[in-house]
Amino acid sequence: MIHLHRLLLSILLTLAIVPSAVLGAVLGIDFGQSTTKAALVSPGVPFEIVLTQDSKRKDVSGLAFKGDERLYGGNAATIAPRLPATSFLNFKPLLGKSVDAPESELYLSRHPGSTLIPAGNRSTVAFQTPDSSFPVEELLGMSFSHIKKLAEGMLPRDSATNHVYEIAVTIPPYFNSVQRKAIVDAAEISGLKVVSLVTDGVATAINYASSRTFTAEKQYHFVMDIGAGSTSATLISFSEGKTAGSLFGKSALTITVEGIGYDETLGGDLLDDRMFQILLTKFANSHGSGIESNSRSLLRLRKEAERAKTILSANTDVRVSIESLYDDIDFRTVITRTEFEDSIQDLLVRIQKPFETALAKAGLDILDVSSVIITGGSSRVPIFQQVLINGVLKGDASKVSKNVNADEAAVLGATFRGVAVSKQFRTKDINVIETLEDGFSLTAKNLDGSVIGSQDLFPAGSLIARNKTQIRIDIPEDTDNAILEFYEGSASTFQFQLHGIQKSKGTVLAANNCSQLYPIVDAEMSVSRTFDVSGISWFCNVTIPALTEDEPESEDLKHKLFNFFNKGSSSSDSEDTSTLTSTETSTGENSETSSSASATTSSKKPKSTSTPKPRTAKQPIKYKVTYSGPRNLGRATKSTSQARLRAFDRLDSDRLARESARNNLEAYAYRIREWIEYENIRFMEHSNEDERQSFLQKALTTLDWLYEEGESLLSESLNERLSELKQFEELVTAREKEKLSSLQELLHPKTSIEEEAFTILPIDTDNLSASTTVMEEAASATETPTEETIINEPEAVHDEL
Ligand SMILES: *[C@@H]1O[C@H](CO)[C@@H](O)[C@H](O)[C@H]1NC(C)=O
Ligand SMILES: *[C@@H]1O[C@H](CO)[C@@H](O)[C@H](O)[C@H]1NC(C)=O
Ligand SMILES: *[C@@H]1O[C@H](CO)[C@@H](O)[C@H](O)[C@H]1NC(C)=O
Ligand SMILES: *[C@@H]1O[C@H](CO)[C@@H](O)[C@H](O)[C@H]1NC(C)=O
Ligand SMILES: *[C@@H]1O[C@H](CO)[C@@H](O)[C@H](O)[C@H]1NC(C)=O
Repeated sequence: MIHLHRLLLSILLTLAIVPSAVLGAVLGIDFGQSTTKAALVSPGVPFEIVLTQDSKRKDVSGLAFKGDERLYGGNAATIAPRLPATSFLNFKPLLGKSVDAPESELYLSRHPGSTLIPAGNRSTVAFQTPDSSFPVEELLGMSFSHIKKLAEGMLPRDSATNHVYEIAVTIPPYFNSVQRKAIVDAAEISGLKVVSLVTDGVATAINYASSRTFTAEKQYHFVMDIGAGSTSATLISFSEGKTAGSLFGKSALTITVEGIGYDETLGGDLLDDRMFQILLTKFANSHGSGIESNSRSLLRLRKEAERAKTILSANTDVRVSIESLYDDIDFRTVITRTEFEDSIQDLLVRIQKPFETALAKAGLDILDVSSVIITGGSSRVPIFQQVLINGVLKGDASKVSKNVNADEAAVLGATFRGVAVSKQFRTKDINVIETLEDGFSLTAKNLDGSVIGSQDLFPAGSLIARNKTQIRIDIPEDTDNAILEFYEGSASTFQFQLHGIQKSKGTVLAANNCSQLYPIVDAEMSVSRTFDVSGISWFCNVTIPALTEDEPESEDLKHKLFNFFNKGSSSSDSEDTSTLTSTETSTGENSETSSSASATTSSKKPKSTSTPKPRTAKQPIKYKVTYSGPRNLGRATKSTSQARLRAFDRLDSDRLARESARNNLEAYAYRIREWIEYENIRFMEHSNEDERQSFLQKALTTLDWLYEEGESLLSESLNERLSELKQFEELVTAREKEKLSSLQELLHPKTSIEEEAFTILPIDTDNLSASTTVMEEAASATETPTEETIINEPEAVHDEL
């Protein structure tokens, strides 16, 4: 069944894909705390899982440095216990968090040997390594870049579109704007543009719906996702109906998120923690303490805890055995499932909470729900399933949806969403209706913190879609300094500090006749639910303008804004705007950047005073931004990260070049040895014993050299040595050719210029292997080269000329 649905989805897409003018690929990434999956859609690749280097359908999330070399996924996990300080795994919860956050503390307890430091002055996290430090976004960027390369390997090599630029990434529902932008930034560092961030539950729902049909009546389903780091329950409704305004009555599917509940820390890793504690206690009881301070032993024990937990999903007990775990002690014990389940009793209550929350938000009962689609690696834990059935589903096991590819549903759904949003291909019409759980708002305050007033920008319940809003704020006449504090839900995110408000207002009034004059804030939400403020300006409604425009009138206030004087854009001001512009462009979705900035460059001179028309003028107000908590990468840090990523890429490709030069040289040295030791007829005939011994010696020295210093040799010296060895073959080939042409002269005395032209053609040394094979075959067939060979060659040359 699982495969059937995957197949259906591919067929659906294959039929639906109609390449538009701009062709390109869309990559979907299900980026999890512990594992990552990716899928690709392009004109040449209908819908395929991106396989790892080892041809696996999923990989461990993260990477590790071994010297300058980067190892990804499973390879990183393998060396992590040996190189904990340069291994970066499971770092998703650190995105958009500060070093003091509980997430960082939890991370360090699970990853002994890792060091977290503040990233610059952004109060977000970077990993400290012995000789450098890496912001989390940069590490994620490297992972994305690695996946991008794997995906590009699946595209037809010759096509003009064998690059991937657009991605859709899954995110947990509780990610706030800073966390979301951290993913967008990571993508940007790796040269990718996020077309959509898709919440986990929605991604699974899209995949579920893409191969089914529904009616106009809403059908409710739960998507339960128990991942490594968190758990969520998303209550979704599906309905299908004629698209409004569609002439042909095209039917569209609507997926509505009716309610979401989640637990940010309940997941597989928490179960591992419990199992780890059991093992640690057992070890300490039998062998005493000391192990707590050895990060390598702890990491090995944690790995074993994870394995034991997985085995207990299918068995009633598990045998644990770790050789020389600590202080040369071999650790052996047995854990029963009961023992494990006793240790996680408190988590069983927590697993039901997200369902209750989601149902309450939607105002529905579990009886209204048709099925529960279970996804996530940790959903296989038997006791979780039991609690789900007995607790949440009130004993009705038939509601557990079995025929969903739990592992890949989210990545396939996210990719589908990315394709739909990027509009590169036509897909089945699926509308996703998701609303803001936490609204975006602002509060104007005096410098002493007293509140002037509050205003919603995008209130809770707003549709998540690309949207812009202009909000008028009222600042009292006598207020010269004020703070605008921006909130997501109840959490303050950043502040604008305004100074000299009245003076600035006076300047605007002196230059314009405003019937109304007030400050406005331009705010924007992206389809991925990131939030930006592009600035604050004076909005002046000009009643008696002293100028007219020779350009055609536009009634659209937002697009036709005039700036009547430029004094406002001082250098300190532009610094502030650049901070904002960088966060703004990071969404990758805004076409018009701050209109105030463009207005600055295009101020109009008064012309005539014929017919006065009402106009509006917009003048930026100076402000200083401060961040209340973690903030996203600035433009400068981002380009530093980009440059560093490219430098590491170069090291990687240099390393690959060295490896291949080494392999070529080694193979060639062996070939020479073989020719000489096995007395290859061609080489015997066209070289003397001294030459053969000399080259054999060279080949053997080369092999020793490679064996001793191979790792450190540079491509140039390797290639130099290779051409030295090749001289042997060149020598033989030249003599062979010489012999052939003298033979040919004997058979066909020179009569025409054309033939003469042929005989003096230089030997193409690059093409020796091809021509020598022909010769070798000819030589072995008869004692002397056949006439055929000689006679045919001129024709071939004529063709080429
Ligand atoms: C943060 O650091 C950068 C450069 O290190 C500096 O330009 C910027 O002013 C600093 N910002 C704050 C708020 O300290
Ligand atoms: C855009 O946001 C504004 C302000 O919150 C809201 O009134 C409007 O309905 C939104 N538009 C869409 C298409 O969601
Ligand atoms: C500007 O003023 C005119 C009349 O004076 C009024 O009709 C219009 O709504 C005002 N525009 C704004 C955006 O306030
Ligand atoms: C404002 O309006 C008055 C007439 O009401 C006019 O004399 C004056 O020039 C106007 N000022 C500007 C700057 O347009
Ligand atoms: C090698 O030789 C063959 C035939 O002799 C020719 O067709 C081919 O184009 C040559 N290739 C190169 C790279 O010169």
